[in-house]
Amino acid sequence: MPDPDIRIEELTSLEDLRQCVEIQRATWGWKDEDLLPLRTLLLLNKIGGLVLGAVDRDGRVIGFINAFPGFREGRVYLHSQMLGVLMDFRRKGIGRALKLAQRTEAIRRGIQRIEWTFDPLEIHNAHFNLEGLGTLCRRYVADAYGPSTSSLHGRLPTDRLVAEWHLASRRVRSRVEGGLHRAENRLPVTSTVVHLPADIADIRVRDPARAASIQQDFKQQVTDLFGRGYCVDGFQSASPAGEVGYRLVPFQPQVLAT
Ligand SMILES: CC(C)(COP(=O)(O)OP(=O)(O)OC[C@H]1O[C@@H](n2cnc3c(N)ncnc32)[C@H](O)[C@@H]1OP(=O)(O)O)[C@@H](O)C(=O)NCCC(=O)NCCS
Repeated sequence: MPDPDIRIEELTSLEDLRQCVEIQRATWGWKDEDLLPLRTLLLLNKIGGLVLGAVDRDGRVIGFINAFPGFREGRVYLHSQMLGVLMDFRRKGIGRALKLAQRTEAIRRGIQRIEWTFDPLEIHNAHFNLEGLGTLCRRYVADAYGPSTSSLHGRLPTDRLVAEWHLASRRVRSRVEGGLHRAENRLPVTSTVVHLPADIADIRVRDPARAASIQQDFKQQVTDLFGRGYCVDGFQSASPAGEVGYRLVPFQPQVLAT
């Protein structure tokens, strides 16, 4: 953790978990019906889920991440649901530290995989997930959560990409542990890029109809490529032409190798 006054710890007390509910309100602006309630947060700790918090010197929780235990392809995995850091503490490495602590704890439990969904139009999250953490995506879920009451999601359908974090893969280790050169992990394959305007966040606010059309177009291109065996394996930051891009390559099982 870059800030020595902030520590990452497992949250189990009622008071700490209550603060997680408040962080949900502050971060996503959800109505009560969309909040993950205290009782479920408490339960998570008892059934193999995980709630980790970033806690400051005064014992205040300033960010948290939670995960449910899941079962996929014959194995237990964690489904990570929310990662939120209070506005005043963002861009200091806390979100990344929470994610890395989640990975460490999963590996300690013998778990190889964590998944979560993210909005592909949220390009900072996309960059973080794909380039910063080394996830890959093979699934697109249209309107995953139905209409959202979050001010972050606007009025668009809640379309999501599913990020797969194969915790012990070389690909992930090269991103989060260092030591391996990134290029070693890139397989020599034909890639294709699906572009989005870099100012999609502004378009969402200024021109929701155009944002909806961009979302629809993105969905069509990506689901078509998924259907042809491609996966998302990288994210290109804004080009001089004002576009960002999702990089897709044919999925090869070796990419999951440890
Ligand atoms: C996403 C979130 C948890 C990141 O927390 P944070 O403490 O600011 O994250 P960090 O400082 O560790 O940065 C993590 C990454 O996010 C990127 N990032 C986050 N917000 C960014 C922004 N506004 N502009 C540019 N990059 C941003 C950082 O560059 C970094 O990526 P990198 O490691 O690839 O360089 C925080 O912005 C947040 O709570 N957002 C609202 C809720 C949300 O969208 N949660 C994620 C989906 S559930």
